[in-house]
Parts: sequence; structure tokens; C-alpha cells
Amino acid sequence: MCGIFGYIGHRNASSLLVKGLLRLEYRGYDSSGVVVKNGQLQSYKDIGKISEMATSLPEFKGSMGIAHTRWATHGGVTKENAHPHLSNDGKVAIVHNGILQNSDALRKRLKRAGVQLNSETDSEVFCHYIAMALEEGKAPLEALQSVLSMTRGTWGVCVLFQEYDYVLCARNGSPLIIGRGKDEMFISSDPHAIREHTDQLVALEDGQIAKLDAHNFQVMQTDGKEVVSHLLQLEEEWGESELGEYPHFMLKEIHEQSQSLQHCISGRLRHAEGTSVLGGLQVQPQELAQLPHVRLIGCGTALHAAQIGQILIEQWARIPAVSHVASEFNANDPVINPKALHLAISQSGETADTLSAVKEIQRKGADVYGVVNVVGSSIARQCGKGVYIHSGPEQSVASTKAFTNMVGALALFALQLGRSRHLSKTKGKSIIREMRTLPEKIRAYLEQPGPIEQAVELVTKAKSVLFLGRGISSPVASEGALKLMEIAYIPCLAYPAGEMKHGPIALIEQDSPVVVIAPNDGVQERTLNAIHECKARGAKIILIHEEGDPISETADVSIPIPSTMPMLTPLLSVLPTQLIAYHAALALDNDVDRPRNLAKSVTVE
Ligand code: AGP
Repeated sequence: MCGIFGYIGHRNASSLLVKGLLRLEYRGYDSSGVVVKNGQLQSYKDIGKISEMATSLPEFKGSMGIAHTRWATHGGVTKENAHPHLSNDGKVAIVHNGILQNSDALRKRLKRAGVQLNSETDSEVFCHYIAMALEEGKAPLEALQSVLSMTRGTWGVCVLFQEYDYVLCARNGSPLIIGRGKDEMFISSDPHAIREHTDQLVALEDGQIAKLDAHNFQVMQTDGKEVVSHLLQLEEEWGESELGEYPHFMLKEIHEQSQSLQHCISGRLRHAEGTSVLGGLQVQPQELAQLPHVRLIGCGTALHAAQIGQILIEQWARIPAVSHVASEFNANDPVINPKALHLAISQSGETADTLSAVKEIQRKGADVYGVVNVVGSSIARQCGKGVYIHSGPEQSVASTKAFTNMVGALALFALQLGRSRHLSKTKGKSIIREMRTLPEKIRAYLEQPGPIEQAVELVTKAKSVLFLGRGISSPVASEGALKLMEIAYIPCLAYPAGEMKHGPIALIEQDSPVVVIAPNDGVQERTLNAIHECKARGAKIILIHEEGDPISETADVSIPIPSTMPMLTPLLSVLPTQLIAYHAALALDNDVDRPRNLAKSVTVE
């Protein structure tokens, strides 16, 4: 949510800032702006896409600047509310990611002091208070410290001064990464926007401030006490951040799933022993013997992957497992058993709700393992242990290949856990054999995806769409519904197939589209009941089923997927739901990669 990029060095700042913002665009894209120091602070901002802002950006000279791409929280999407914000004397510019909870009080105090406010944002207060403190004779660092002492909330904030040749930044709850190049420094909300410039990265921790010039940076606590900061050891990730031949990142990422799953499982399967090895997720035999349960936590797509992981762990390892909506986790003062295993699942590794659940669990004495995509992200660092899912960069707001790799990594973990308990070597080997075939099956399906257009025609005409699945297909139904809602803006409801008759069936009218996920998995027969109940009321069934399965006869639109073992079907059955969402969004002329109101990393609670 909101992206920050900064540059201090010897090159033209303006063009580097725009490039950095474009890499961060998935964090928010309702407005953007840059400010560059060249004697004066020269600033430009606008609503709309970064590429549009960039075409009208004046040619600023100067080799030091900060920039921002916004996802609106306080104040509507207007030019005035876009960042950067400048003090009225033009001497201080700020960009901010986060939410200031006491901004109303701070704004009122400024008004009483006669300061003119130029936006409706919470963020703007930073520049005015810093300017006032400078006016009172405070040094820039002291001025920032004094503002931070009066604010409550979250911030990743960068400050540029007209009269000083350095940038100050501070973090509390919103990520900021510093990159050190040769006689140049970078600041970014995400490591991947800096990595093309340098691999010397340092992540600021909550409660820290940094002072950067072109040659050095200094990290300190908010009280000014210097801290030793450690370079992030980032493994090289696979994958391109560019669109290449694809029209949209979402389509590119859908098609990368065969390759990304391969990256997730390769080197982690041990066929001879019928098990898997996840370096960062090894449960010691003693811990295992006392393990009461496993809890999996995530939001959105990561939650759906967690729900699948829960079923896999129960099925293969026979350990009670439960998944939780991260945003609800802290609401009810959860009881934490320090002997239990906790997994936090996140693509970005920055989701505030998930991060806050991790902290709550740790505060109550238990460890949390991260199942994360972005290397060096806040959740990965906060957990301190866990596994990377190796999806490569995922840039479309609608998550696809990260889902596949979350499920892939959780399947590996469930297998490992199962094998250290009662799962037989023979069963383990058959799971491994099947997992190895999946990348090819994904590729083959995507080459011949079936009558997606027919499904799209039904859903784009509908008032709402019902998604049904049973057992391990129930979270897939939820994932399909989420995808269609977030990019096609069609109201969708996902329900466990058997639960449909307890309420949602009332929604069905003549021609209502119902997407049913019904692999041949042992519970299919009961899903068939739901299909007949829908059909009897005039619904049109879009059926995702295994190829050659006679259940296809019940479908109005039959979408066959390759067969696999029941517990691994989500890795294939999710694919048509992603394609339906993608093509529906296109048919409705929506911005597929930048759906309205959303952002890729949700860094506010
Ligand atoms: C998925 O398509 C969504 N954009 C969203 O639900 C996302 O999965 C959720 O915000 C969690 O993100 P994370 O995996 O980065 O934690």
C-alpha cells in the first residue's frame, strides 16, 4: 500500500525515481509524484497512472529526490492529496506510507498555529511540523524526532530538505529498504525495486531512523542512539519483472505457474525416502512428539492456500490443523500454545494484518514460520525462519502463481510432517511422483484451457456468480470467487457445496451461473447433489472436472483439467478460475493488473 522510492547520488534523480515508482506501482496507483532537489525543491504530482504522470513531468535537474505512488487512505484521489507534500515555505518535502491515527488532532493544532493545510491527508502534517521545528532552530534530525514523538500510527516516511544534502527516513510499521550503490544510495518500499541497482541492502526496523547522503548512511533508534545494521542476504530469485510478450502481468503470471511450481519443488523432493526437505521448516522429533496442532494464517489468496494447507496437513500428517483470517486473529485475544506450530503465509511478506498476527503469536511465547515469496520482506524477517515459495516477482494485483507455490510449499511441508509420523514411504513416493508431473500438467492445461469464453459469456451477463466446491475444492471455490470479484467487479459468493442448500440457493434464478469445482476425489458424489439442486432451479453449471469424467454430462460449460491425486487437485482446478477472471475482466474493459481500489501489498490494518 503506497510505494516510496528515493535516490541520492550523481545521476539524474528524476528518471530513476520514475523507474523506481513503476516497479512499485502494484503497491498503489491512484496518484503519484516526485520531488527533486536542485537548489530549490522542485515537485510534480498528478492523479492517474505513473506512466501518465511521467509524460507530463517537467525535466527536473538534480541528483537527489524522493517519490511516491499512492493508495488513498485519508482523503480522496486528488492532485492535492497526492504525495509529495511540501511545507508552505517550500523547504521540506515528505512522502509517507502508513496511517497516522492522531492526524485530526495534529491538523487542528497546525490550523490553530495559523499553518495553511493544502490537502486532506494525514501525511501532510509531517512536513509542516518539521518546517516549524527547523524554524525554531532545531536540526533536521531533531525536527523529525520531535514530530515522530507526537504521531501515533504507522509510517515509512522520507524527508527531503532544501537546505541540507541528505535525506532522512523513518520506519514504524511500513517497510523501507536502503540500497547502497557506488557513491549513490537508494530507498524503496520493496527490495525488488532496488535490486537492479545494487545487492547491498539494509532493511530499516520499526522505531528506526536513517540519515543518508550519496556515500554513507547511518541508522539510529528514534532517540538518536546509533544501531549496527546488517546487510540483507538476498538469494537471487528467478523470473523477469518485465511484461515481455504478454499484454498483462496477470496473464504472464498465470502462464508462469508451470515453471514457478517447478522452482518451488525442485531440490526439495527426496524420492528414495518418499519425503521432502524444507531447509527452513524442520520440526525436530522431540517437538513433533509434543505437537498439539498447526495453525496457518493469511489473508485473501494466502488464506485460501492456508485452508488447503490445513487439509493437507490433517490428511497426510494426521495432526489437527486450523487456518485463520489474519485480520481477525488478534481481535479475540487468541490462546496460543507455545508448543503448537504456527505458519504465516504471504506473497508480499508485508501484509500488515498477517504481520500483526505474527507479532501477537510471538508475544505470547510461540514461534512462527514464514511461508513467503518476497525475500527479505518484513514477515520473513519478523519470523526469522521458514521457507520461501520461489514464485519469482508477482506484479499483478490478482495473485495467481503465488497461490500455486503456497499450496506447493504447504504440500511439501505436509508430506515432510506426514513422513515423520505415520505416512508410509510408499504413499510418500506416490505423492512425490505425482508432484513431479504437475508442472507439465499445468503447462498442458494452459495450452488447451477449454471453453473459457463460454464461461466468460455467462458470468459477465450475470448479477452475481456462485462458486461451489467440497473438501479440498472448497478453498479453490473461494479463490475463484475472489479473483473474479477483484478484477471483474462481479459480485461472487463462494460456498462449500453442501452448505449451499442452507441459504445461498435462494439466489439462484433462471440462467444464474454456478461455477462448480468437482474433481474425482471421493466427495464428488455429494457435490453432484448440489449440481442437481442448482440445475433444478434453472442455473447454468460451469463445471471444472477431471478429463474423461462422466460428471461432465451435468455441465452447461464443461472445463476438463488433467487428472491428479485428489489432494493435489487445487493446483490444477484453480487454473480455469484464474482464466475466467482474467478474460471476464478484459471483456468488461477493466484494468486487469490495476483493479480499482486495490493494492498488491496491504500494509495497513
Ligand atoms: C489476491 O488476488 C489479492 N490481491 C489479495 O487477497 C492478497 O492475496 C492478500 O492481500 C494477501 O497478500 P499477501 O499474500 O501479500 O500477504
